[in-house]
Amino acid sequence: MEKTFEEITTHLLNYGFVYQGSEIYGGISNTWDYGPLGTLLKNHLKELWIRHFVRENPYNVQIDPAIIMNPKVWEATGHVSNFHDPLVDCKYCKSRYRADDLIKKQHPEIDVEGMDNIMLNQAIKDNGIVCPNCGKSSFTDIRQFQMMFKTFIGVTEEKSSTVYLRPETAQGIFVNFKNVLRTTRRKLPIGICDIGKAFRNEITPGNFTFRTREFEQMEIEFFIKPGEDEKWFEYYKDNCKAFVEKLGLEDEHVRYRDHEKNELAFYSKGTTDIEYLFPSLGWGELMGIAMRGDYDLSRHVSYSKQDLSYLDPETNQRYIPHVIEPSFGLDRLMLALLCDSYEIQKLSENDSRVVLHLNSFLAPYQVAVLPLSNKLNDEAYKVFLSLSKRFDATFDTTGSIGKRYRREDAIGTPFCVTFDFNSLEDKQVTIRERDSMEQKRIPISDLSDYLYEQINKDL
Ligand code: GAP
Repeated sequence: MEKTFEEITTHLLNYGFVYQGSEIYGGISNTWDYGPLGTLLKNHLKELWIRHFVRENPYNVQIDPAIIMNPKVWEATGHVSNFHDPLVDCKYCKSRYRADDLIKKQHPEIDVEGMDNIMLNQAIKDNGIVCPNCGKSSFTDIRQFQMMFKTFIGVTEEKSSTVYLRPETAQGIFVNFKNVLRTTRRKLPIGICDIGKAFRNEITPGNFTFRTREFEQMEIEFFIKPGEDEKWFEYYKDNCKAFVEKLGLEDEHVRYRDHEKNELAFYSKGTTDIEYLFPSLGWGELMGIAMRGDYDLSRHVSYSKQDLSYLDPETNQRYIPHVIEPSFGLDRLMLALLCDSYEIQKLSENDSRVVLHLNSFLAPYQVAVLPLSNKLNDEAYKVFLSLSKRFDATFDTTGSIGKRYRREDAIGTPFCVTFDFNSLEDKQVTIRERDSMEQKRIPISDLSDYLYEQINKDL
């Protein structure tokens, strides 16, 4: 059955993957809170990313830098002067748009990349761009809109105390490059990884959690010897592909897109995005892998006046390392996973079920323990307790067993363990697999190892 984005987001709101932010106050534009199921899924996705890119990778370490950084960082990176969006307002209905988006949507053949404000203004006039809300064609001139959120340190709200909420986690890595080298005593190549919140005052947030003003990134800055850029770029393209394959997204819903020359930042020699085909929305970027050269470290050298060069112990050469940056958006990956795994499955003429075919490791609950009767709750709870030491497990005693299975299917639980009266005697339980709905008996003593093997296979 064809699924729509709206139907999926309704499901996620109903089951508590996501809530509207500040809901009891009427919400606040495009802000979302993750509920219990969304939080568990998010934890597992982070865990898998750490496992793949940090724990099982010979080059990488993880750090956790602060969100508020010295504002000079953002002068050095160019964010203070360049991190702007071109904003236009409809003069009639006051709707607000990003000028480049507006043009691109109505005239996809126009290449807006690299256009300055004068060119964008002209393109709006020359091509009869209209307001999607009221259909009129009269816009204000483009204004530049700073996308970094400002706040103040200390008690006085004056310019000298202005700081920004970081618009990317990457810079917390660059400013710690020397610290990490010194304290880990590692050599190049070295990857420094970070998972954390980033903030952007987007003009047009929307499509649920796809574009928000507060989101989480999982980024790696991989520091290498200059000249080895292509080699490590290819390494990360393969490595990111291997990670995405572990997520279990349908192959035909994922594509790898190399940026055109005119899309690249002036310092970048190449960028590849991984995109996902969202139902109803079309292709959207999940992550990007970029060759950033020595741009960031060199800028920090010139603004901080610190020496961030590296003395190569093999060649005795001193240089500023180059960087390959794989940057994932956690919220977008989650949304892609949830869209991909959602299915309304017809079981018979008048019976259907909603299933989230999530990878067993990522599913919010990896196992549900279901006593067949309330008389069995105490004994079944012992099974739940032993499993919950190793897995995210849930214990559900309410409703018929069929209804409980359906509820677990709808939230993606890959395994249900049913404790019945025979279990008291034979010390076995029935294990039901979500996708095949097949059931088999298994000794309670083997349960934990069996589940561990099933949940971790293919990872
Ligand atoms: N350090 C590089 C960097 O930040 P980016 O393409 O701007 O690159 C990386 O962001 C990823 O972060 C994107 O591929 C996307 O998944 C996620 N992302 C960016 N802006 C976002 C937003 N407003 N809402 C949700 N995710 C966002």
